[in-house]
Amino acid sequence: MKKFTCKELRKAWVDFFVSKDHLHLPSSSLLPAEDPTLLFTSAGMVPFKEYFNGTKKPPHPRIATIQKCLRTTDLESVGKTARHCTFFEMLGNFSFGDYFKKEAIEWAYEFSIKVLEIDPEKIHVSVYHEDQEAYEIWNKHIGIPEHKIVRLGKEQNWWGPAGDSGPCGPCTELYFDRGEHICHTETGCGNPATCKPGNDCDRFFEYWNLVFNEYFQDTEGNLHPLPQKGIDTGAGLERIVALLNGTDSVYETDELLSLKEEIQKQIETILKRKLDFSFQTQSALRVLTDHVRSVTFAMSDGIFPENTGRGYVIRRIIRRALLFAYQLGITEAILYKIQPKVVEIYASFYPELEEHRKKVQDVLYEEEQRFLETLNKGMKKWEEFLEEHKKEQKQVFDGEKAFILYDTFGFPVEITRELAEKEGLSLDIETFNQKMEEQKQLSKQTQQWKDFQFPHNFPLINEQTEFTGYFKYREKSKILAIIYNNQSITKLDKKDIAIIITDRTNFYPEGGGQIGDTGIIKKRQSLFRVIDTKKKGNLILHIGHVEKGKFQVGDEVDLIIDEEKRKFTTYHHSATHLLHKALRDVLGDSVFQTGSLVSDEYLRFDFSYNKRLTEQQLEEVERRVIDAILAKADVKIKHLPLEEAKKTGALAFFGEKYGEIVRIIEMGENGKYSMEFCGGCHVQNTNEIRYFHIIKESSPGAGNRRIEAVANQKALQYFYEKIQKLKKEWEDKNQKMPNQLSWNLPETMEEITEYMSSNPYSSIQLEKRIIQFEIQLQEIEKKLKKELKKEKSLEHLLEKNLQFENLNSVKLYSFIEENLTPEELRILGDKIKEKEPYALILAASVQKEKASLMFTCTKKLIELGIDCSELLSQSVKAFSGKGGGKKDLAQGGVEKNYVNEVISFAKKLAREKILK
Ligand code: SER
Repeated sequence: MKKFTCKELRKAWVDFFVSKDHLHLPSSSLLPAEDPTLLFTSAGMVPFKEYFNGTKKPPHPRIATIQKCLRTTDLESVGKTARHCTFFEMLGNFSFGDYFKKEAIEWAYEFSIKVLEIDPEKIHVSVYHEDQEAYEIWNKHIGIPEHKIVRLGKEQNWWGPAGDSGPCGPCTELYFDRGEHICHTETGCGNPATCKPGNDCDRFFEYWNLVFNEYFQDTEGNLHPLPQKGIDTGAGLERIVALLNGTDSVYETDELLSLKEEIQKQIETILKRKLDFSFQTQSALRVLTDHVRSVTFAMSDGIFPENTGRGYVIRRIIRRALLFAYQLGITEAILYKIQPKVVEIYASFYPELEEHRKKVQDVLYEEEQRFLETLNKGMKKWEEFLEEHKKEQKQVFDGEKAFILYDTFGFPVEITRELAEKEGLSLDIETFNQKMEEQKQLSKQTQQWKDFQFPHNFPLINEQTEFTGYFKYREKSKILAIIYNNQSITKLDKKDIAIIITDRTNFYPEGGGQIGDTGIIKKRQSLFRVIDTKKKGNLILHIGHVEKGKFQVGDEVDLIIDEEKRKFTTYHHSATHLLHKALRDVLGDSVFQTGSLVSDEYLRFDFSYNKRLTEQQLEEVERRVIDAILAKADVKIKHLPLEEAKKTGALAFFGEKYGEIVRIIEMGENGKYSMEFCGGCHVQNTNEIRYFHIIKESSPGAGNRRIEAVANQKALQYFYEKIQKLKKEWEDKNQKMPNQLSWNLPETMEEITEYMSSNPYSSIQLEKRIIQFEIQLQEIEKKLKKELKKEKSLEHLLEKNLQFENLNSVKLYSFIEENLTPEELRILGDKIKEKEPYALILAASVQKEKASLMFTCTKKLIELGIDCSELLSQSVKAFSGKGGGKKDLAQGGVEKNYVNEVISFAKKLAREKILK
């Protein structure tokens, strides 16, 4: 056998199949382009499902690839065995209605013995037990003796579909006989019942699977013959390299080994000691090797850690890796330090790794930090829980506790299960799931249609709805199918939710971030209200309910979309493209889209960037978008094959497939303002967008920022609503504390429109003015609060001091307080006077050494001849105090020791005056 490095094998593979007239295509993304039911690209055939189904034409009938694959079903076995990996490269050759079993088998054999130089004696094969044809080819045509061919059942020799539906068929597998000494069966080697390919006895090592795709399996599990037969073969790159080099473990193949060594080096540097050779340590190294490679590849394809779906699996892998590192004594971020090594090893074959290197490293670091913040606490909690369980001698770990670990400490439940199993406990997954379910119920509404499946035997599954609605608000069409209550029906008159499918439609189905259209489907007097539009496969679903009359399959109908809603959605979609470009121009090319929502109300754009944007950057971005709008740039739509499209430099979102015709939206000459792949609805000239304004900047998760913005009329609406709210607040404050701040903002829709048209960047200015006004209002609010506090305490003082002395009709109030300012004394006096028309108040407040004095009285008392000023000056005279003022109010001061005397004296004088 020849020895191969991974690199050499990749080349040998491609050369061989190109010599057999195969088109070599680069690997597709790990994100399956159009298959939401599939988490990741898990096999070489995944990107070609539609070629097999016959719904799309391949660029060539024979294709060969080396496809990046991610399989996470065996995640928990990774580390424990020498062979399990989550990420692997699959060597594959494919035929779409071209060659079939004979050539597929011939070439697999030829490649094995001529290129890999495997000893033919060592090759064994398995065939599907009913596949006589394959058996004969192996036996008669190739010459594999009968005793080296085993017939296996569906479990082992039937492959597919990948995902919930798709092509599948019988398969045949090639095995390498590693020799009797490897056999682990208890019954001893050579026992034909147990020692054979397909059994767990390690002697026969499977290295290649050839699938004969003949059927389409629907979501119900029914098989339908495919319009054309096909070949899909798959061989794991590292498995073959391991086999040829005689190593037991894929982790000993050249590339993975160098990665593993790097990890070991990094860890030893941190720990300042050498690692041992225990199973636990070696497992942890394998886990780290595999996991860091998987997440680097996945993130470079735009699959970032998140709380749900694909992103959740990536998060789980990262966390699992950190947990194993933790068990080696590593409590700091480490994966981000290893990622550059993954890039170094693989970037020559997978350039996307280099392209997104920085971004992936940043996100990885942040993601690690996040988990590490709780990992310590989580492990403590776990140990506490474990202790409790042990004390109570429980065999099963509580689901509720697993939920706490998940919810509070971010432990994926699979990790908790793994930890529990290590301790000999199983996990009560039902309770955990129940807890999760309760949590999920909350967000269920929005998820409602995500999991929609076509009913059993749905007739149109392979058909296509023609979308005609980029610039059409009305369309005529024919009803092809109606789905009600998860059944395909022909007549619909019920008023509950139903789905209508027509042969063409102008209703845009939710996709590329853009929301689905709403509107009506009409037939004379009958009316179906469409509340949402979605795409499933190649069909467009109008989701809604009958409002009037009835509908049936075959009806000619009018399709009328909500024009207004579509228009605003379109403005927002085009504005999103301008925003994307502006962000890249301002922040750099490492910025790329990670998600978006385009609705009629606003747009939301998520992108890779790990710092909060400064005010200047946000303004600059907004200004650039506005410039693009003012430039009145034409928007051109082009359709190009993906390869050509990429050359134009258009921004591509993840998931497009090679060979496909893609739609490019070009704004401005040579994409001056934007050039992007997109299937959505756009304006014909940027000027239609009219206004653009960023309303919020935030972060939806590690390494990502989110911008929310509004366009056209919605920008005016945004300001209008904001200013109206502000006006109310201002009115309220102004009433409580008049003349502090005068209203100075445009207020009515007309005023706002006028202001917005006054100069190109008025949205930025108006926002600034609003913020300024808000700050001023906050100042007033602070003052008001202070006042309120004061008033509250004055109220209290008032109650306390309302005792008075009755002198005929006059009420004489006198009190001495502590720590009131002269101003507060005066307010207190005013409050009493508000309540009492015949009041004379003689008040003092003691502070440190001095006491302030305040005498005040109502008008009535002045009429009676009272003069506060005189009263005060007479009272303080004998005590070397000071003071004066007017008849109704006098203020002064005296040394604190004399305050009682002064007030008593003043009271005496007042009594005399009043009672005289
Ligand atoms: N689809 C088959 C597999 O994944 C052969 O490529 O094994």
